[in-house]
Amino acid sequence: MSTEAEPGLARPTTALLPIVDEDAAAGRFRVHRSAMTAPDIHRAEVDRIFATSWLYVGHESEIPHPGDFVRRPIGGRPVFMVRGVKSGNVNVFHNTCTHRGALVCRQESGNSKVFQCFYHAWTFDSEGRLKGVPDRDAYADGLNFDELGLRRVARVDSYRGFVFASFDAGIVDLPTYLAGAKDYIDLVVDGCGGSAEIIRGTNQYSFDANWKLLVENSVDGYHAESTHDTYFKYLVSIGTDLRGGVSGTAIDLGNGHTVIEYSSPWGRPVAKWEPLFGDHARTEIDRLRADLVAKHGEWRAHAMSEVNRNMLIYPNLIINDIMSVTVRTFYPPTADAVDVTAWALGPSDETEALRRRRLDSFLTFLGPGGFATPDDLEALESCQQGFASGGVEWNDISRGMGRDPMANDEEQMRVFWRRWQHQMGDAADLAGVR
Ligand code: FES
Ligand code: FE
Repeated sequence: MSTEAEPGLARPTTALLPIVDEDAAAGRFRVHRSAMTAPDIHRAEVDRIFATSWLYVGHESEIPHPGDFVRRPIGGRPVFMVRGVKSGNVNVFHNTCTHRGALVCRQESGNSKVFQCFYHAWTFDSEGRLKGVPDRDAYADGLNFDELGLRRVARVDSYRGFVFASFDAGIVDLPTYLAGAKDYIDLVVDGCGGSAEIIRGTNQYSFDANWKLLVENSVDGYHAESTHDTYFKYLVSIGTDLRGGVSGTAIDLGNGHTVIEYSSPWGRPVAKWEPLFGDHARTEIDRLRADLVAKHGEWRAHAMSEVNRNMLIYPNLIINDIMSVTVRTFYPPTADAVDVTAWALGPSDETEALRRRRLDSFLTFLGPGGFATPDDLEALESCQQGFASGGVEWNDISRGMGRDPMANDEEQMRVFWRRWQHQMGDAADLAGVR
């Protein structure tokens, strides 16, 4: 059994029987199914992955004005993000009152100068300072109310509008963490004309399977033709030319992040026309593409217009820049359940007609009732049900070993799993898993 570690990562010292079993010489990579089912593994993931990674909180465009806020569960913990009225900064606070614990922000989103805890009415401003305490006279003179402001999440930073936070004060800085993923975020944002925004409206759904199956699925080119057969048939029915198919490569972006890049038959609002968009859209989409060529040159314009990318930012952010752009994050309350939140991203200054086509394209494939999501979730729940059958201990993830990684291979999943095994360390030792 090989214990080869990802280059640059120290080999886990105590994992005698790793759950992620890679044997490069034999061309075999397999993952023990307890990784998807064991409550011990889930508990260790909460401590060793979700408490120690940079996690996506939201996008700066969701809180453009002073006092704008959104509340989010991040890594299973309630937090909220608010643009400071005085500073203009993006503040991310633990959503818990410093008095006796109640949630301070109980609305999903809105605008407010102050946040009043409903329990005893302590009031905090948008910079987290404690501004109001009913019957303050009842407290002894020595109590320092300045120390009872809201607690900031240990680390907060953003890259091209994407806001991340970490509960680990000692984590590497965000640009270092994002590594090669930065270039691909740049491609997405530059493809939006340099300024992207989350389009109002949120998709939220849950399903009964392990979260890592969704990680795999989100960057899995192999399943597209079989699982999404109905979508391809639909594309043919409206006149899309499927010749050329789906082909491309998988890229290791470092630190567990990965992307597949590929050509495909479907159109892209920026900037590849398809019959779904209607004949009248051709001129406008051609103009968008010409703008990108003028600004970025032909090669980069091609990468933004015709090339699709499904990107995983480890551990739980997906940015899929395909027939529209989706930003998707998720968290597992248990080993066999996932809560997903997803948004559509688009250029900040998009015309109404283009925005309509983008949202139509988004909902047709990516929305909760689109061609992709129900089929994908059916597949993932089916896998989880299959695990309960027993008899087979390992998932095989060997496809494409020993050749240059293709989008239809499984190298991108191996990139994730190697990082996962490294972070889990001795918690991912088969001998100790229950
Ligand atoms: Fe918030 Fe008491 S718990 S004011
Ligand atoms: Fe899919």
